[in-house]
Amino acid sequence: MPTADLDALVEEARAAIAATESPDDLTRVRAGYLGRKGTIAEVLRGIGKLAPEERSQVGAAANTAKRRVETLADERRAQLEQRATLQSLEEHRLDVTLAGAAPAAGHLHPITRVMRDMVDFFVSLGFSLEEGPEVETDWHNFEALNIPKDHPARDMQDTFYLEDGHVLRTHTSNVQIRVMTGRQPPFRFVAPGRVYRHDLSPRHSPMFNQIEGFMVDERVTFADLKGVLLAFGRHLFGDDVELRFRANHFPFTEPSAEIDYSCELCDSQGCKMCSGTCWVEWGGCGMIHPRVLERCGIDAQRYQGFAFGMGIDRTASRRYGIPHLRHLFEGDLRVLEQI
Ligand code: PHE
Repeated sequence: MPTADLDALVEEARAAIAATESPDDLTRVRAGYLGRKGTIAEVLRGIGKLAPEERSQVGAAANTAKRRVETLADERRAQLEQRATLQSLEEHRLDVTLAGAAPAAGHLHPITRVMRDMVDFFVSLGFSLEEGPEVETDWHNFEALNIPKDHPARDMQDTFYLEDGHVLRTHTSNVQIRVMTGRQPPFRFVAPGRVYRHDLSPRHSPMFNQIEGFMVDERVTFADLKGVLLAFGRHLFGDDVELRFRANHFPFTEPSAEIDYSCELCDSQGCKMCSGTCWVEWGGCGMIHPRVLERCGIDAQRYQGFAFGMGIDRTASRRYGIPHLRHLFEGDLRVLEQI
């Protein structure tokens, strides 16, 4: 092949390479000129048949042509790759100024919220926060609270007994004994926590939350108790709430009362939440029995005090409109996420 034809071949290759639009395309076109069966390889193969004086000239020209086509193909490949990079950058353009997706935040459980709200109120009155064990001795849960062995509250129906003689505390009143034993008044404490009763009726839960509060000093009266509870009720249910004290019996208080508050939902019309009575049971209270103080090593002639204990869960279920207490304990996110 004359060298002028080789120049024409390079020009043809230049045009063909420039016309390629993708790396695959280019690979194919390049092979058409440079591959084993390509045009230039054909020329190199034909050299053997040439006259000896032509061989070196055509061989050198063919090699030059080969290198030029290689260079053209390499340049085009670099161009195509750069173009592809730019194109993909364009397609996947990120708007870094867009607002990010906020991470899903959890929230406090409704019972925790109400519990903290209650504790905050008492802390603002100068009460301290206490805790007691849920697995408790018979002494702290019963005996020291003046609940004798044959008292109905000890009935197997109410109390979960552990094999080693401990009980699951049936109320938070054990904290009175835990706090007062070995210390001397004045005392002002609140103690929220879980309590357990063996009650399988569907309206009750075998575990629920109570808050205990007590105050002991030299001149604490039932009037102080009423004043503190009324302020507590107003904090929780609004300024218009009324409290009702009904005479009752607890072995560890004397006198004792049950407390109801006026239903804040029905506005004295009677509703489903208060079963039409306009009053809601809230808890128990009274003046701490002198025998309890004595069992804690406190001089009951000099000191006296009040104590109260109420359920927390019902307040939470009313506040957040959750009809069944069990919904509060099941941890079902479909319920909790609505709050
Ligand atoms: N411990 C009583 C109960 O669980 C409530 C209570 C507490 C009553 C303190 C009087 C004083 O029912």
